[in-house]
Amino acid sequence: KVYEVTVTAPVNIAVIKYWGKRNKKLILPTNPSLSCTLSQDHLHTCTTVRASPTFDRDRLWLNCVEERIEASERLLNCITATRQLRAELESKDPSLAPLSKWGLHICSQNNFPTAAGLASSASGYAALVSALAKLFELPLSEEDQSKIARTGSGSACRSMFGGFVAWQAGELDDGGDSFSYQVAPATHWPDLHALICVVSDAKKGVSSTSGMQTTVQTSELFPTRCRDVVPQRMEAMKRAILDRDFETFATITMKDSNQFHACCLDTYPPIFYLNDASRAIIQLIHAFNNQKVDPATGKPVIRAAYTFDAGPNAVIYAPKGAMRELVQLVTYFFPKPIDRPSQAYYSDQFGLF
Ligand code: DP6
Repeated sequence: KVYEVTVTAPVNIAVIKYWGKRNKKLILPTNPSLSCTLSQDHLHTCTTVRASPTFDRDRLWLNCVEERIEASERLLNCITATRQLRAELESKDPSLAPLSKWGLHICSQNNFPTAAGLASSASGYAALVSALAKLFELPLSEEDQSKIARTGSGSACRSMFGGFVAWQAGELDDGGDSFSYQVAPATHWPDLHALICVVSDAKKGVSSTSGMQTTVQTSELFPTRCRDVVPQRMEAMKRAILDRDFETFATITMKDSNQFHACCLDTYPPIFYLNDASRAIIQLIHAFNNQKVDPATGKPVIRAAYTFDAGPNAVIYAPKGAMRELVQLVTYFFPKPIDRPSQAYYSDQFGLF
């Protein structure tokens, strides 16, 4: 007998960045973060989990290539935690099939290149945990699932929800209060769109896991960011989202991306995630934002924001009405941004999750 479930999970792109751990094993962050979950139509991970008494061990295939589960503490964290919860259920209800004792076959597929900074681990671990929770019929809330996904990859805990999602850092040593929650559903702000510009799909040099560790150990700017900057930004960002205040949303998003990359530069030895094309996109967006002036205030009208994760690819957030012009500008200035132009751009819209 085979039990099988298939789920998909979305990608999220942070507007206030998670960078730094206070506990590496449990993946507890040094600061809270906030992200937008993108619609699953364009970017998602699809994961199928099968349990059968004939499977003698757990096996996992990522984009059709088998990976060694034993080599990954993070995969083991998620599988062990959910299996343990299933075993507890089985001990209470003997009529349940003994899935916790069977081997698992896990097959996970991204519908996008596992490229630099495209958050494949976030959607990957979110899909894995929700698939296991469903297969094992665990009575877990999304918040509980986000805690387990967090032990796979920090940013994955935010992909358990759609729309605008905050990950509270928490204070407890066991991570019991470090989970994500929805600030607002995607339907709250349907006019906000995201454009992903793939500058390079080469695998990044320094992984976020090791990069953030070196930042915690060596950057002098970093403690100031965690203590004096991020807490205020979290509050201001939540307010901006609830008020659909694009100007504040955009300004904080750009400043937070810049400060995160400044911390990378302040890491010793420094980490460079942005390249010349990334920096040109930053200048392009500032030039775009300076184009229109509000006659009442005399100030520029902010109509787009950029943000960059641990790689050179840009994500541009903008109101739907500005997207056509932005796509034209980006494709005009960067006609062949990567080796495979067919994968250059993904235009994305928030969707229901
Ligand atoms: C720059 O979640 O990939 O994308 O917890 O070690 O797996 P681990 O790190 P990861 O880091 C993501 C960092 C970031 C910012 C963000 O998504 O908030």
